[in-house]
Amino acid sequence: MLAQLDTLRAEALIALGAATDETAIETVRVNYLGKKGSVTALSSGMRDVPVDQKKEAGAKLNEVREAISSAIETKQAAIQHAKDTASVAGIDVTLPGRPGNGVGALHPLTQVRDLAVRTLRRMGFTLAEGPEIETEWHCFDALNTPADHPARNEKDTFYLADGRLLRTHTSSVQIRTMETVKDLPVRIIAPGAAYRRDEIDATHLSVFNQLECLYVDKGVSLADLKGTLEVFFREIFGPQTAVRFRPHFFPFTEPSFEIDVKLEAKGKEARWIEIAGCGMVDPAVFTAVNGSRGDVLFDPEEITGFAFGMGLDRLAMILHSITDIRHLIDNDVRFLAQF
Ligand code: PHE
Repeated sequence: MLAQLDTLRAEALIALGAATDETAIETVRVNYLGKKGSVTALSSGMRDVPVDQKKEAGAKLNEVREAISSAIETKQAAIQHAKDTASVAGIDVTLPGRPGNGVGALHPLTQVRDLAVRTLRRMGFTLAEGPEIETEWHCFDALNTPADHPARNEKDTFYLADGRLLRTHTSSVQIRTMETVKDLPVRIIAPGAAYRRDEIDATHLSVFNQLECLYVDKGVSLADLKGTLEVFFREIFGPQTAVRFRPHFFPFTEPSFEIDVKLEAKGKEARWIEIAGCGMVDPAVFTAVNGSRGDVLFDPEEITGFAFGMGLDRLAMILHSITDIRHLIDNDVRFLAQF
């Protein structure tokens, strides 16, 4: 029996050596190790082996079975490897890959807007919106801007035939919000488009983007305005950013300020850059809002508020040293791929 096993092993290994595909290997397995295979047949002869030889015969049987199985596995792996190699024949796997369409990114304006909105939301402001086609009331009258104000001139503003206009600023959302809220405080961020009949050049477009902020409640002070803006601009431009308030005039705030931030451009001396307008809500605005609401939720004797507004395009330009605002709307991938 021992000799027979040696012979079977030798035969099996020769057959495997000659096998060139999966089917041939399977045939070898069936012939030797299968239910009716010759090795299997020998193992059923074990019961006739004399007791003193059983141990040796059993060990031999296992040894031969394992030798054949492992030779089958080795052969299978070799055939698989040959197949894999053949399937990539002629392909130089060391060549650099072909660039695809590339991974996209958010537009730089969207990025700045999201950063600004996120920062203000952390301070308790919520998003608000209003229409881009606006009434004169919401854009001007309620914002204490008299009929003879230059912004109301047809040369500066796009009017529709019905007397409505494309909003010249997002401050109209202040009015829209205060007219509809149920209660105080009012604490909103309103990003959105604004329109002016400007000559288009490196710093002007007829459509641009603003971000408006309004906080109204009992006891809102100028200190709240300063603190909010300082935190805000440090978040946008970095923790060392200095912020300066310069007295100014807006019809709907009193007092009013322009805000400058001090920014260092690489290799240049730090400069003050005008970045936003702001002020304490003029009591005349509250009176106008109460008029359309028909109540006195915004009692000018009791309630105060601050507002600020800024151009998001300008913010993006300053942040990324963009020298021409038109890049923001050209949709040239060579420009956009930088963000
Ligand atoms: N609406 C003003 C502008 O467009 C900015 C501003 C907003 C000023 C809020 C004061 C308060 O220039």
